[in-house]
Amino acid sequence: MGQREYLATDRQVEEDRLRAQARLIDPLTRRVLASAGLSRGMRVLDLGSGAGNVARLAVEIVGPDGGVVGVERDPDAVRSAARSAQDAGLSNVEFRQGDVETLAGVDGRFDAVVGRLVLMYLGDPAATLRRAASLLHPGGLVCMHEADFGYLWSSADTPTWQQLKSWIVEALARIDANPRMGPSLFATFRAAGLRDPEMAMEAAVGGGDRAYAAGWANVARSAMPLMERFGIATADEVQLDTLTDRLLAEVHAEQGVVIGPCLYGAWTTV
Ligand SMILES: C[S@@+](CC[C@H](N)C(=O)[O-])C[C@H]1O[C@@H](n2cnc3c(N)ncnc32)[C@H](O)[C@@H]1O
Repeated sequence: MGQREYLATDRQVEEDRLRAQARLIDPLTRRVLASAGLSRGMRVLDLGSGAGNVARLAVEIVGPDGGVVGVERDPDAVRSAARSAQDAGLSNVEFRQGDVETLAGVDGRFDAVVGRLVLMYLGDPAATLRRAASLLHPGGLVCMHEADFGYLWSSADTPTWQQLKSWIVEALARIDANPRMGPSLFATFRAAGLRDPEMAMEAAVGGGDRAYAAGWANVARSAMPLMERFGIATADEVQLDTLTDRLLAEVHAEQGVVIGPCLYGAWTTV
């Protein structure tokens, strides 16, 4: 299977974005992991670990008697996630460079497979889930957290918000990513031969000083090289330096709210 592109090409820009995004969405992922029954002592496989944010959430829950293995294909992300874990004194989390579509070199058995915002980038997410689930002990947990980028990004349905959303959704389409992976999780679990999952959906929302427009502008920053390459938008059109302020001005003018990525959790046991 040919390797698909990722939305971001500059890893440092992407690391910064993922860390900022994590502050917004980590509480949601923590709730999903807890609802799913992740618990102390479990050995966890984190698919598409990126900057290591989900792995760190999982390690908080499983504690010192458990452990987490993150698999990520970008070597810079792997190094940086490993460095952060070391700085935090976490000895029971490790990050391996690898492709979650093959999971080559990932051995041993796990009690849980988790992942956030990764299935949307895969050619055959059901095949990946099936392969990952085959590494679980009987009774093991599969718990995924994916977005619906088709949902509202702001209550202000104004020109800059509409334009930004259409640019990003087009960039995702050009790399064959699924911008509505969240609602597709149910069908994907079934296609993977898993039991029908329990599901939950949540988004962070805020107005005024809590209107997190910078998060959406950061997606454009990460996707900018891709958008230019595919002729979706030029840097002059996007004007990254003023994008957050313009998005905020439109929200504030309507006393509106910004809606963070609408995230679907889905979990089941094998
Ligand atoms: C949006 S980031 C999410 C990172 C992390 N799960 C989080 O929520 O912070 C998606 C990550 O999946 C990785 N990825 C995409 N396709 C992959 C593949 N086939 N194998 C391994 N990692 C992959 C990307 O490199 C990127 O770091």
